[in-house]
Amino acid sequence: MERIKQALEKARQQSVGAAPAAPAHPQTAPAAAAAPAAVAQQADALASGVIEINYTQTEVVRLDRATLERNRIVAFEKTNPDNWAFDVLRTQVLQKMDEKGWRTLAITSPTVGSGKTVTAINLAISIAHHTQRTAMLVDFDLRRPRVGAYLGVRKKPSLSEVLTGKAQLADALVNPDLPRLVVLPTSSPVPHAAEVLSSVVVRSMVADLRERYADRIVIFDLPPVMAGDDVMALLPSVDAVLLVVGNGDSTRKEIEESMRHLPPGQLLGVVLNKAEAEVRRGYGYGYY
Ligand SMILES: Nc1ncnc2c1ncn2[C@@H]1O[C@H](COP(=O)(O)OP(=O)(O)OP(=O)(O)O)[C@@H](O)[C@H]1O
Ligand SMILES: [Mg+2]
Repeated sequence: MERIKQALEKARQQSVGAAPAAPAHPQTAPAAAAAPAAVAQQADALASGVIEINYTQTEVVRLDRATLERNRIVAFEKTNPDNWAFDVLRTQVLQKMDEKGWRTLAITSPTVGSGKTVTAINLAISIAHHTQRTAMLVDFDLRRPRVGAYLGVRKKPSLSEVLTGKAQLADALVNPDLPRLVVLPTSSPVPHAAEVLSSVVVRSMVADLRERYADRIVIFDLPPVMAGDDVMALLPSVDAVLLVVGNGDSTRKEIEESMRHLPPGQLLGVVLNKAEAEVRRGYGYGYY
């Protein structure tokens, strides 16, 4: 616990001001029940081996600035005064990942509504703004996918269709009018999330996404650690994990418990989100 306390204290000290008033957090919706046909297709897809990826067809979509603002995607416009917090986070993350030779990063939190998706999207955008890096953002929250909704991208087919054997991965990729960013959204919940995330297909897909370009960082938005075994299922396939703790969203016990599940060698850091929300100045991120 001492380690967490020190981390949070350090994050708090480094926090760049406070967040705007946090809206009520939506509750985690239960995963949609799987239709038998979909399950069979999914099983076929997962048994069939490697997913082929062809980037030449990536669809470009223009993002609606008002939607981004509404969903706290502040890193897109370089003029947004809140985007610097993510540039600082990006620099810290890239330095540590480069040092270790890491290129794939899972983002999780102890409990729901801590700001994982907002952090994952803003971090990916901030990395893509960096002239020498490219970023890919994959929505691996297969129970409650929100990346597409937060970006205002309604993509079909998406990763949901790829993982249920109905589409090719190349057709699910989106380039959201930022040259060095590719997004792989998930449009609807995918049944048997943990089994899918630990499957050979997902493992080889993650390895392929990692190996294809040396300058690329691949970010995976995940569900909370305490919501099931999805995080545990994916961790063996990724290099590192970033824990987002929403200020006041998780108890000390939940933070402690979730950290027990994350191998210390893979833990890149802890982001304290919504820091000092009570003071209401600035955006509110801290990192250690
Ligand atoms: N720094 C912040 N300040 C205030 N509100 C925030 C901040 N970061 C995120 N939020 C808000 O908190 C809510 C939850 O954010 P988000 O969906 O990113 O969390 P999550 O951890 O991905 O949730 P889930 O566990 O449901 O996937 C959203 O309404 C978001 O706008
Ligand atoms: Mg989320």
